[in-house]
Amino acid sequence: MALKHISVKKLLTEATPGSEVTAKGWVRTRRGNKNVAFIHLNDGSTINNIQVVADLSNFDEEAIKAVTTGACIGVVGTLVASQGQGQSVEIQAKTIEVIGEADAETYPLQKKGHSMEFLREIAHLRPRTNTFGAVFRIRHNLAFAIHKFFNDKGFFYWHSPIITGSDAEGAGQMFRVSVLDDKNPPLNEDKTVNYEEDFFGKKASLTVSGQLEGELGAMGLGLIYTFGPTFRAENSNTARHLAEFWMIEPEMAFYELEDNMDLAEEMLQYLVKYALENCADDIKFLNDLYDKELLSRLDFVVNNQFQRLTYTEAVEILKSSGKKFEFKVDWGTDLQSEHERYLVEQHFKKPVILTNYPKDIKAFYMKADEDGKTVRAMDVLFPGIGEIIGGSQREEDHDKLLARIREMGIDEHELWWYLDIRKFGTCPHAGFGLGFERLVTFVTGMSNIRDVVPFPRFPKSAEF
Ligand code: 4AD
Ligand code: MG
Repeated sequence: MALKHISVKKLLTEATPGSEVTAKGWVRTRRGNKNVAFIHLNDGSTINNIQVVADLSNFDEEAIKAVTTGACIGVVGTLVASQGQGQSVEIQAKTIEVIGEADAETYPLQKKGHSMEFLREIAHLRPRTNTFGAVFRIRHNLAFAIHKFFNDKGFFYWHSPIITGSDAEGAGQMFRVSVLDDKNPPLNEDKTVNYEEDFFGKKASLTVSGQLEGELGAMGLGLIYTFGPTFRAENSNTARHLAEFWMIEPEMAFYELEDNMDLAEEMLQYLVKYALENCADDIKFLNDLYDKELLSRLDFVVNNQFQRLTYTEAVEILKSSGKKFEFKVDWGTDLQSEHERYLVEQHFKKPVILTNYPKDIKAFYMKADEDGKTVRAMDVLFPGIGEIIGGSQREEDHDKLLARIREMGIDEHELWWYLDIRKFGTCPHAGFGLGFERLVTFVTGMSNIRDVVPFPRFPKSAEF
């Protein structure tokens, strides 16, 4: 019987030279001459390959021919200290089994250096590359760290629904969920579609945010966080937007804006530090290949306090900067990514938390400031990314919230449950949303958000 195989990561870091081992994985390269073959094998457990050395006098020539780039093989051999540079151990192969061939003529990842755009077209194969292996290992570690961070602080993982009957968050356009016959839907008298006959008896959509239901959880469990997929049907074809992305939304009873900012800052620093400590090889690889400032940028976030200032102060800075922006800045307008990045990258040269935005550019649920003009909002802005977190203290006063809902023309009946929670034991509370892919983009240094999720969803793209 074959020996149980050991991951390449364990072979390189834990296994004892001299032992008999089995390795399985995909061939990255095969070099050599007519006497000996050097095969670099990777199984995804680490960015590093294990070198397999095959003395060709012991192998059938035909069998070895199928050991091509991309082929899947199983190797049995002896782990020995390596003679060559770049690795401490290698496998002296006794047998090599080709588990799955990869035709050299047609395998698309024959060579290195493909463009990111090309790799996106072969998203089914890109986890095989060094770059995407690194990105997706980092993504996993960050997801794990998020759960660890919140669990260690006494937060409960709360599952807000993915299909929702409420479309009142106002965060963006929604994707409809329906089982009606699209050729012949039931109609109302005025010829509009009658959703009462649809699966849920009302119009339903994919959620744009788990926040509103998250607040309901926090009003009983105290501290909760969501971590799930969210969907926005905006036609945003940018390097920062996806139509399907994952969001982390903590919601905390008894937290006010300051506490919210403290938590956001502590969390982001924890997550970046966790990645630096647990994904060192992968981050170094990405740093050396794509972005020589990645490591220093990550260190910088961990080691510096974020700059906190109000929206009003930020507008003053932008106006007196003397810089020509594409979009003009005026008090009351939403900041564009160019403004956010100016503040972070050029003015303060560190992450920034902007607070107290004008109420008219923020969602209905944010708690009003005393001046009646601004709300207790906060956005965290990161270098190269712009907005990575958006959040606020929530309006906990029933009557003020209802007045704001009416003022904004939102259907109050849709939100009866959200208002109801303010009638029974209401309390100050706050929360925020961290865009998971924006975090992964920041930590990996990738230049496009489409390259930090296995199968990105964006306008006109849902192939895989
Ligand atoms: O600022 P947003 O829209 O806030 C909310 O949805 C609130 N309900 C959050 C809360 O207070 N619980 O989104 C939060 C974050 C943004 O800062 C950004 O990082 C990310 O989600 N985000 C996107 N990421 C990728 N693609 C998109 N289309 C995104 N839209 C928002
Ligand atoms: Mg926002």
